[in-house]
Amino acid sequence: MPLFRSYESHRDMNSPNRNISPISSAINESGKLFVGGFQLSELAKKYGTPLYVLDELSIRIGCRTYINALKKYYPGKSLPLYASKANSSLTICALIASEGFGLDAVSEGELLTALRGGVKGEKIVFHGNNKSDSELSFAYQNNVIIVLDNHHDIERLKRIVSDSTPVKVMLRFTPGIECHTHEYIRTGHLDSKFGFDPDEVEDVLKELKSYKWINLTGLHAHIGSQIFETQPHIDLAGVMADTLKMAREVGHPITDLNIGGGLGIKYVPEDNPPSIEQWIQCVSFAVVEACKARNLDLPRLMCEPGRSLVANSGLTIYQIGAKKVVPGIRTYLSVDGGMSDNPRPITYESLYSACLVDKPLNKDLEKVTIAGKHCESGDVLLKDYFLPYCESGDFLAVFGTGAYNYSMSSNYNRIPRPATVIVSDGLVELTQRRELPEDLLQLDVLPDRFISKN
Ligand code: LLP
Repeated sequence: MPLFRSYESHRDMNSPNRNISPISSAINESGKLFVGGFQLSELAKKYGTPLYVLDELSIRIGCRTYINALKKYYPGKSLPLYASKANSSLTICALIASEGFGLDAVSEGELLTALRGGVKGEKIVFHGNNKSDSELSFAYQNNVIIVLDNHHDIERLKRIVSDSTPVKVMLRFTPGIECHTHEYIRTGHLDSKFGFDPDEVEDVLKELKSYKWINLTGLHAHIGSQIFETQPHIDLAGVMADTLKMAREVGHPITDLNIGGGLGIKYVPEDNPPSIEQWIQCVSFAVVEACKARNLDLPRLMCEPGRSLVANSGLTIYQIGAKKVVPGIRTYLSVDGGMSDNPRPITYESLYSACLVDKPLNKDLEKVTIAGKHCESGDVLLKDYFLPYCESGDFLAVFGTGAYNYSMSSNYNRIPRPATVIVSDGLVELTQRRELPEDLLQLDVLPDRFISKN
């Protein structure tokens, strides 16, 4: 039995979002990195690279910490929902459902994955600022709670829903709260495409009261993503409680208050997000106080964590290929993936942490820039990063890629998507097979007249 030691010196075993690497990562006696009981270089050889690896333990611990903290700090009922835009697959949906989570979906694809993965329709909340008719019908037929984002949603639902089976809806509004995160992932400020403007909420609530086919059961707001401060969420509780009071006064027996997601995670050592428990404690306290101050019965509390549940359970293994030294300027190491499997650095200038999987702790460091293989100069995964001296053929793990990587991946340059495996205590299973170049031709149609006669 090999001896293992922890990969990171400080670990929070209850809050995966506060560690860079998955909870189960460990170094064996010969200094190699393991996750879920597997040596990562062996996984790379068996499944090929790039390879997304998910640690089941990290996701389960994250789910349980959310659920237990809600039980501990929120005196009313609660239902945490997994924001499946972070990473949608049958396996993750089945896993979070088995932990008692519901789910937030934003497209027919995410809805279908959740339903087929075993999440019950009544535990799914369907978002979107421009839902199609077919998406709305599909959600309605499957008993999903639909979030009204704008008048367009109401107009179309009117045609789809029958009076005899009212649709269960929540109302989303823009809370007008600023938070410090990347501009592209901020949603709660007034200039946002999501949700009703706060000034029109009262009129909308009155309008909805006149429709028999609508059963308004909840309110929703979301302020942004990768947030480290708790104050915006405390402020949000006050704004939401005001709206809850207004909705109940208009005559809607609102039971659900959905405060969205947004808890940040640790990508690099300097990141210091609150723990899941601290976040739940803080938002629960804020909602309870806000309701008390307005004399409101406590609603069922919903929240929608995405990144904080899955990001740090995941890593991506790449193989290092070409090395280019630009004297006096930079050393480029190119890997066999890049912006198609992780578009976050080029989109948001996001920072990541990485290590060589078979010598994660070596001290002979050199400054390198990890470049992707796409035909785009900006396709860089880590810039000016210190790694142990490495050679072509070495395997590199980039941490924190369990959220918004696979789900934002593309086939740019017709590069197939990587496979995903889930590891758990000595068990490894494929959850998404690797795409093949042939797969990429499946949807192409070549009209006869273009077929070469030569
Ligand atoms: N609820 C709603 C309504 C959302 O829009 C989002 C994220 C979440 C929940 C989950 O937020 P989380 O707990 O994951 O922060 N692609 C960006 C992130 C976009 C987030 C969009 N909405 C990124 O890679 O950073």
